[in-house]
Amino acid sequence: MSQIDIQRLGLHGDGIADGPIYAPLTLPGETVEGEIDGTRLTNMRVVTPSEHRVKAPCRHFKSCGGCQLQHASDDFLADWKVEVVRQALAAQGLETDLRPVVTSPPKSRRRAVFSARRTKKAALVGFHARASDVIVEIPDCQLLHPDLLPAREALFQLCQIASSRKGEISATVTLSDAGLDMSVVGGKPLDGPLLARLAQEVERFKLARLTWDGEVVATRAVPAQRFGAASVVPPPGAFLQATKEGEAALLHAVKQAITQGDSGIDLFAGCGTFTLPLAKTYRMHGVEGEGAMVEALDAGWRRAQGLKHVTVEARDLFRNPIVSEDLKYDFAVIDPPRAGAEAQVAELAKSNLSEIAYVSCNPVTFARDAAVLNQAGYHLDWVQTVDQFRWSSHVELASRFVRK
Ligand SMILES: C[S@@+](CC[C@H](N)C(=O)[O-])C[C@H]1O[C@@H](n2cnc3c(N)ncnc32)[C@H](O)[C@@H]1O
Repeated sequence: MSQIDIQRLGLHGDGIADGPIYAPLTLPGETVEGEIDGTRLTNMRVVTPSEHRVKAPCRHFKSCGGCQLQHASDDFLADWKVEVVRQALAAQGLETDLRPVVTSPPKSRRRAVFSARRTKKAALVGFHARASDVIVEIPDCQLLHPDLLPAREALFQLCQIASSRKGEISATVTLSDAGLDMSVVGGKPLDGPLLARLAQEVERFKLARLTWDGEVVATRAVPAQRFGAASVVPPPGAFLQATKEGEAALLHAVKQAITQGDSGIDLFAGCGTFTLPLAKTYRMHGVEGEGAMVEALDAGWRRAQGLKHVTVEARDLFRNPIVSEDLKYDFAVIDPPRAGAEAQVAELAKSNLSEIAYVSCNPVTFARDAAVLNQAGYHLDWVQTVDQFRWSSHVELASRFVRK
C-alpha cells in the first residue's frame, strides 16, 4: 500500500498526484492510499477527504461509468470547469472575462447512448461500468430525463428479439416532442420478418421512431425538435445539444455575442440549433458536413412562419473551409466538433466579420483557435462556460470575439 497526495484534477476527471499517478474518484487536497499499478492507483481508500467531497447522489455511481465526478460538490465542479477554461486560455497567453458556469439540473439529459446484451435468461440494459465492457443497470439514474428511462424497457425487448448472444447492441435515444426517437446499431440484419416484429414493438412501446443500423423501421409519430419558431425532424441519431437547459444557455450566449448587422453564417450548423432561432432577426446561411442534417434544417425553415431568409450548404469545413473572400456577412457563429476548426478559423482570421460567436466542447482546441483569432485582431470579449454534462469532466463554452 502506498499513500499519495492528490494535487489536481486532470482533464478526464481523475485526481493526479506527483509522478504522475492517476487516482480516479479522488479530489485535490486528499490523501489517499492504494496500490500503484504503473501510473494508476488501484484499490483506493481515502485517508483524508477533501472538504468538497460529497455523498454521491446516485446509488449507481460506484459501479456505473456514466458519471465520473459525483463525489465532488456542485460548487467545486462549477469552479473547476471555469478553471479548465482559464488554464487552456492561459496556455495560449490569453485572458478574458470568464462568466460563472451555467449548469444543467439533474435528470435533464434528453439524449443518451444505452448498451444492451442478451443473457441466458433475458437481457441487460444500461451503461458500461467504469473502464469495462460490463453493463450496469441504471433504474434510478440521476442524470437522464425521466421520460428517457422507459427506453430501457423497449431496448430490453429489442435486445431479446434481435441481438445475437455474443454481440452487444447500442441505442442512441433522443427525447423528441413526440416521444422516444431510438436508433439501434449492432443487432441482427434487418430482414422482412424482423422488420415486422420490430414494427410491433414500436407500437407496443409507443416509440416515435425506430431506426435499425441506419434503416428506419417505423415512424409512429414525427420525432421533431423545436429550434425557435421552427420545428425540425433530425435524421436518426443526429447531433443535438445534450440538455434543453444547456442548449438554451448556449443560445442565450450566442444571441448576446451578436449585437449588430443583418446577416450571419452558422458554421457546423447541425440541424439549425442556432441558425433557426437567429433567423428570427437575421438572414442566415447554415453550413454543415452531414447532408441529411442540412436537409432537415432547410425543411424546418421552409415550414416555419415569420423567419428571415435561410440558405444552407452541405460542406466539409475541415477540408474545404469557406474562404475569407466568401465570408461576406456581419457575423459568424461557429460550433465545431472536439477537434476545433483550424482550417476554418484561419479563414475567419482573414475576414472582416465584426463579431464571432464561438461555441466549443473542447477548451483546449478552442484556446488554440482563439489565439489565431486574437493574433489576427479579434478581441476575446468573454467566455460563458456551460455544463450540460453534469458530473462528467466535459466542459463546454460559448464566447464572443469582436473585431478590434
Ligand atoms: C458540436 S456539433 C454542433 C451542431 C450545431 N451547431 C448544434 O448546436 O446542434 C458539430 C457539428 O459539426 C458537424 N461536423 C463535423 N465535422 C464536420 C466537417 N468536417 N465539416 C462540416 N461539419 C462537420 C457535425 O455533423 C455536427 O453537426
